Amino acid sequence: MSNHADDVHDELTYPGQDMPADDAGQGNVERARPVPRISIQAFCETQPVAGAVQSAADDRRLSKTHVSIHMGGTPAAVAHYQESPTPNLIIVECSGNRDALLAELDALAECCDAGTKVIVIGHVNDVILYRELLKRGVGEYLVAPITPLDLMESVSNLYNDPASDPVGNVYAFIGAKGGVGSSTVCHNASWVLSEVLRSDLVIADFDLAFGTTGLDFNQDPVQGIAEALSSPERLDEVLLDRLLTKCSEHLSIFAAPVVLDRDYDLQPEACETVIDVVRQNVPYMALDLPHLWTAWTKRLLLQADEVVITATPDLANLRNAKNIIDLLKQHRKNDNVPHLVLNMTNMPKRPEITARDFEQALEVKVTAEIEFDPETFGQASNNGQMIEELNPKSKAAPILRQIAMMIANRQEVRQEKKSALAPFLEKLNLKLG
Ligand SMILES: Nc1ncnc2c1ncn2[C@@H]1O[C@H](COP(=O)(O)OP(=O)(O)O)[C@@H](O)[C@H]1O
Ligand SMILES: [Mg+2]
Repeated sequence: MSNHADDVHDELTYPGQDMPADDAGQGNVERARPVPRISIQAFCETQPVAGAVQSAADDRRLSKTHVSIHMGGTPAAVAHYQESPTPNLIIVECSGNRDALLAELDALAECCDAGTKVIVIGHVNDVILYRELLKRGVGEYLVAPITPLDLMESVSNLYNDPASDPVGNVYAFIGAKGGVGSSTVCHNASWVLSEVLRSDLVIADFDLAFGTTGLDFNQDPVQGIAEALSSPERLDEVLLDRLLTKCSEHLSIFAAPVVLDRDYDLQPEACETVIDVVRQNVPYMALDLPHLWTAWTKRLLLQADEVVITATPDLANLRNAKNIIDLLKQHRKNDNVPHLVLNMTNMPKRPEITARDFEQALEVKVTAEIEFDPETFGQASNNGQMIEELNPKSKAAPILRQIAMMIANRQEVRQEKKSALAPFLEKLNLKLG
């Protein structure tokens, strides 16, 4: 339906590309969640607002929606909806004062179909106006200037029901080359997260032919992920439960079949459907991706909430990490930059590229550096244990913990050593000073 509008008003060409790349300060990005398949039509008055709307329209969180952007503000919207049905959501910018704005919106209300929601972007910060608008059923009032994230947060609040919609966070892990320890980082960080957050987490092993998730957790799992991916439309809460293998109270794995008698040509849409079903049911999901560049790996990287790239300190890793990071930065303008983990550093006698060189070439901070420690890592993987389970005193254990906290954007709260009297004092509602 929005295509009709395109002939009537000026269509915009990507003014949002000038938006600053780091709009999304660390921690902001979780506010806006992916939005379901709705149609959105925006009628703007100024270029900066149109730019922010365009930038939001290009974002992964709105990738399922259909957005069209027009100039001319509310009057253009009113003229347009005299003839066309209204979409799920109308965004209008009004640069006038309180009275002008209310008059314009009353005119718009006349031609709005039931069920259409409205977001208003105004230029006056006015509480009375805000109340008047809410009374008239406006979904949200934003005051310009707005960032793409402000807008996406409002849309997401209107269309995501926390009780039923996908809300789980998705973290994708990929290696800059094969064998660099990406799965090891994924499994250890995920294990720490499930323990620290005491929240359910699923590791999905997308290395269908050779994945090690089952081995690393010493499980002989149901090989669930292939079944889910082959008929994603059948996946629901009940089937999901049957296809997951529980490793600990909060950690489950979606294990790879690891047999070679089939082909694994995955469809990006199937991957996305499976992830949406898991996100509806589980608050955290880690994607253990193989070192591959296919339509589906690319899609999963672009759609994830956070991306973790593991690299070892050589030139090929540097180049590959740079290519991946550049691509992600370009397509994920409103997201945190990827986390970069340098693994297997300080290997005896090996010439290495330093963390500083990586930072300079890639223009991202190295999230963490893990030394080459074949004894600890080898033992852990032979035992099917996590590093912290095997040896909490090893050098790598606190670093893996720190990586987990960085990804989830959390600071770990250290448990204070309690006095032996604490239980009694708590009963009396007293605390030690
Ligand atoms: N810091 C490290 N020191 C020594 N060995 C490591 C280290 N990190 C990972 N490994 C080992 O490297 C091997 C490859 O790791 P894996 O996680 O499967 O890599 P990828 O998923 O990138 O292919 C595993 O045997 C793992 O135990
Ligand atoms: Mg792997």
